[in-house]
Amino acid sequence: MSKRARVRGIEVAYDDAGAGAAVVFLHGFPFDRSMWREQVESLRGAWRVVAPDLRGHGETSVTDAPATMEEMAEDLAALLDELEIERAVVAGLSMGGYVALAFFRKHARRVRALILADTRAQADTDEARRTREETAGRTLRDGMEAIADAMLPKLLATATRQKDSEVTTRVREMILRTNPRGAAAALRGMAVRRDQTEMLPEIDVPTLIVVGSDDVITPPSNAEEMHALIKGSRLLKIEGAGHVSNLERPAEFNRALEEFLSSLDE
Ligand code: MLT
Repeated sequence: MSKRARVRGIEVAYDDAGAGAAVVFLHGFPFDRSMWREQVESLRGAWRVVAPDLRGHGETSVTDAPATMEEMAEDLAALLDELEIERAVVAGLSMGGYVALAFFRKHARRVRALILADTRAQADTDEARRTREETAGRTLRDGMEAIADAMLPKLLATATRQKDSEVTTRVREMILRTNPRGAAAALRGMAVRRDQTEMLPEIDVPTLIVVGSDDVITPPSNAEEMHALIKGSRLLKIEGAGHVSNLERPAEFNRALEEFLSSLDE
């Protein structure tokens, strides 16, 4: 399943499973495409499911300049060209959602529908930008261990951390596998991302918004704001899930995905 494509001067690793109309999954920070395993498995019987490692993550090349959301969106456009996919459903969690919105801004006609999970439209505050820069410096100096320790309590709901050691271990290991240079570049890229709020009323494709009720990084209020501004969007709050709702509650997440995808017109 694991494949490689050379696009825009980097090597992009991706999964490409199933056949038919395409759904693309964009992972969060500082994760990789393996976070979508349950979704790839659940959809591959009916859809072509593509999940890339974004620039600087997983097995994709690392670049040191700030990895902006626009840069990652252009990587995706080039990968879709390479795979001869003209239009796709684009699903992103957290940073993947920022990339999905940047992709929509530039390539709206290539987006058949959007799935925005545990994400937000707003840019960083000045304070968040300063924290990102500090974290980038610390990551380059000390490696991913410190990020994993600092992020895990915020990423997963308390119930997940207490009861689901498998998910906790999986998320921790995914973070530890990330290249510190790739993580620092993504932090600097997220820090300069534009505010997409004013674009939301222009989104004219079916949109599903998902959020964990206990997400403290991009809380339900962020999802509700997007829901209010994206015409006809659906909002699902997954009770008891934190920021990584697809991993914490895969059955519920997949059910919502399947219902949403089967509602799309040809
Ligand atoms: C993510 O999960 O992608 C990040 O937590 C997003 C962010 O830091 O804004």
